[in-house]
Amino acid sequence: MFKRPDMTLPGPRGGVFARHLAAYDADPIGFLTACRREYGDVFRFDTGVVVISDPELIQRVLARTNSDSVPNANPLDGGRFPTPEQTRRWMRARRLALPIFRPATLPSRLPAVRQALADDLNALDGVLFDPSERAWAICVRALLPLYVPGPAPELVTALLGSFDASLRAGEAAVRVPSWMPSRLRRRVRAADQRVRDEIGPMLAPGRAEHGDDRPGTLLEHILAQPEPAPRDIAMGAIGFTFLGAIGTMGAVWCWLLYCLAAHPAAAERVRSEVTAATADEIARHPEQALPYTHAFVHEVLRVYPPAWLLGRDAITGLDLGGFEVPAGTAVMFSPYLLHHDPRWWDAPDRFDPERWLKAKPPHAPNAYLPFASGPRGCLGTHLGIAVLVLTAAHVAAHQRLEVPGLDQITPHFGPSTLTPRGMTCRLVGTS
Ligand code: HEM
Repeated sequence: MFKRPDMTLPGPRGGVFARHLAAYDADPIGFLTACRREYGDVFRFDTGVVVISDPELIQRVLARTNSDSVPNANPLDGGRFPTPEQTRRWMRARRLALPIFRPATLPSRLPAVRQALADDLNALDGVLFDPSERAWAICVRALLPLYVPGPAPELVTALLGSFDASLRAGEAAVRVPSWMPSRLRRRVRAADQRVRDEIGPMLAPGRAEHGDDRPGTLLEHILAQPEPAPRDIAMGAIGFTFLGAIGTMGAVWCWLLYCLAAHPAAAERVRSEVTAATADEIARHPEQALPYTHAFVHEVLRVYPPAWLLGRDAITGLDLGGFEVPAGTAVMFSPYLLHHDPRWWDAPDRFDPERWLKAKPPHAPNAYLPFASGPRGCLGTHLGIAVLVLTAAHVAAHQRLEVPGLDQITPHFGPSTLTPRGMTCRLVGTS
């Protein structure tokens, strides 16, 4: 195939960071959409940064993560790429955690998740709250029963502290040069250490023995390995998989509430489906028991993918649809752009859960990526969907949702996630 060097890639003149930062900051998705229209599905965003929007090309890049590229380097970690040894160890931690999140073993764990969600949602009865202030803690408590036996409130606090420190630092990261020892970076390290301090004693051999017929947690699964996992791998399997979940899970949890309020006819269909199913069916097999609610959740993830901008850093030269880019290039793509592109979806701007109930997929191949894909795609896809379905089911069946000023709420395309800005809501018990 004919290859052109990086220099000839089309893109905004002068680069975005030098010439167009204000326009990008004011409306990131509008800016990216306009660039895609003007320059095509592969364009140069800035020096060493390329944006791709073709689903097959994105799929190829994602499928070769870990061999041709790595997930974007963390600026708080000095902007360094992970070494091959770090990637190998993370993949080992990921494999260790995987059995707990497999769809086949998930149903037995969902009743505990459902109970945790119900407790938190009921506790909010009558309170006017900003969902983006509550979502992180609610999601952490909902996921906790998969990780450790018992309530572990200190672990919850440490995880939320670590998440909050990274969130704040992420907002400021672009302004802090990676070599500068910053207060934010120290705060993130200290918060991470608190998570380690909580998990460390739990990993002592003989702890958390599991004699009853309750499904085992990730901690028990790790402690039951015939060959004990090295401590840092076990720590990664618990701490980093948990931290990997909070931001995206919490952001889309807020959008779920928003969509239930913004689309009352669809919410009413969710309610009638939920009231027709038994509690046991819902808790164990939410996907089969609640097909419309499931479609509703996929539509929320399509319209508001929380990880709206993702990327990989090339560790070898890459061929991006005929353009050759060198190692070190950041290759970005936007699930949000993909999900709203009329080339890949019919009527992408319409919120329409029905589209998911048709016999054929409602999109072109690889054009639906709320969880990314490939070896570094989301580990908790099925669990994430289940948490959203169970939340929708609980709210629809037991609560009335009030969202004042619905038309004032706007999407905020933040550095890490897409969240609804300016949203408050109230849940009022109905049964
Ligand atoms: C609906 C909720 C969720 C959404 C939308 C979501 C989305 C994503 C996305 C887009 C990525 C890939 C990031 C990238 O490619 O750079 C990812 C990675 C990840 N997710 Fe999720 N996620 C959700 C829930 C969860 C849950 C419940 C867990 C719990 C296990 C989880 C654990 C992870 C982990 C550990 C990674 C990192 C994978 C790796 O680097 O190997 N996620 N998630």
